[in-house]
Amino acid sequence: MQHFPLVQALCRVAMSNPTPALRKQVERLRDALREDGKTKEAALLSSILTSADRAQEMTPSRLTQSKATVSGESLTPNTVLPVDRETSTPLAQIIFPQQITDNGPLFSDRVTQAVRGLLDEWTHLEAFEAIDIRPAKTCLIYGAPGTGKTRLAMWMAKQLDLPVVVARLDSLVSSFLGTSSRNIGNLFAFANRYRCLLLLDEFDSLAKLRDDPQEIGEIKRIVNALLQNLDVRQPIGFTVGITNHPQLLDSAVWRRFEIQLEIPNPEIHLRLEMARHFMVPTEAPDSHLKLFAWFTEGATGAELEVLVRSYKKLRAVRGEQPYDLLDLFRQFATMNSGRLSDERRTLLFADQAKLLDALHREEKLNFSLAELGEIIGKDKSTISRSLNSEPKLRRKR
Ligand SMILES: Nc1ncnc2c1ncn2[C@@H]1O[C@H](COP(=O)(O)OP(=O)(O)OP(=O)(O)O)[C@@H](O)[C@H]1O
Ligand SMILES: [Mg+2]
Repeated sequence: MQHFPLVQALCRVAMSNPTPALRKQVERLRDALREDGKTKEAALLSSILTSADRAQEMTPSRLTQSKATVSGESLTPNTVLPVDRETSTPLAQIIFPQQITDNGPLFSDRVTQAVRGLLDEWTHLEAFEAIDIRPAKTCLIYGAPGTGKTRLAMWMAKQLDLPVVVARLDSLVSSFLGTSSRNIGNLFAFANRYRCLLLLDEFDSLAKLRDDPQEIGEIKRIVNALLQNLDVRQPIGFTVGITNHPQLLDSAVWRRFEIQLEIPNPEIHLRLEMARHFMVPTEAPDSHLKLFAWFTEGATGAELEVLVRSYKKLRAVRGEQPYDLLDLFRQFATMNSGRLSDERRTLLFADQAKLLDALHREEKLNFSLAELGEIIGKDKSTISRSLNSEPKLRRKR
């Protein structure tokens, strides 16, 4: 359909900040296309609607969405930051809600529900306190590097309309004996004074010294300072800790976080949704998006984003000229050998018939023959012949 990519882009932009009226119009357009037999276009609009729904699912319920009722002075760009006395390096950085993107990270339903529950709790503090319930205000987020942990913490602060006090853990740990615990005390005193969310990102770096026998005394002082300060802060404001290595954290520190949220690597359907999300504003056929999801088995959102970015660059350079999609994936696999599953890499470099057969047998993505054709730039009958030459053929359509 002529100009449909423009219509699709328009709907995607509109649905990034949807109102019920906008949603209704996109649904009407989708239904009209479906009635006209334009099923592919209708499906593309459906997927835009679904992605928008998922983004909305994470935000706290509309009725309750309000500023989190955290007391304290307001931070401004001119607020003086606490510094390390020996080096004068600031112990924190402030990120204001306006500096944080509106787009929330994409997670599995389980994580999405948990985040939504937490945000609902954090926007209902007064209601909890009225019935004498002490809400959990500390949350530890853990998972592999690049799974969206920092993005999640920032986005949560944006939803709560709170500035983030990001602890600079490298400046906190001082080579001068006793200074690290004083820095921790100063940082927490600063966070307790202002309305904010205190973010202890890459929190495990505070525990790094543990293996060094020379540092045992100092690490004990750091852990004690953390425990004391976390306890004092609990009734005052929100604290989010992030770590890639939860096992490195002292168990007493770990237990101080009332909520412990694991962010797993994305599974195949989520990777498909992420590929679609990262692709904007470039248009890519479903077959290509599915290939991204298939190929990035075991990878994180950040790795998928890098791959999608290479695709977008290729498309920008080539325009309408033909390009070899599999070549792009092979290049990526060569330069990111440690990040991808061995099985997928081997298939990518194997005989094309084997790769097509493996894609065809991937039940979760359900590649059609036409889609496989689109990937290698051949028609359906060529694909069908290629699949027939493979012994373990199971025809779909
Ligand atoms: N679940 C996700 N949803 C959306 N984007 C994601 C997701 N996971 C990763 N990304 C993308 O990857 C980038 C890196 O994410 P982020 O910095 O939040 O990861 P992280 O888990 O904090 O990693 P690290 O542990 O290395 O600090 C983000 O800018 C985002 O664009
Ligand atoms: Mg991070």
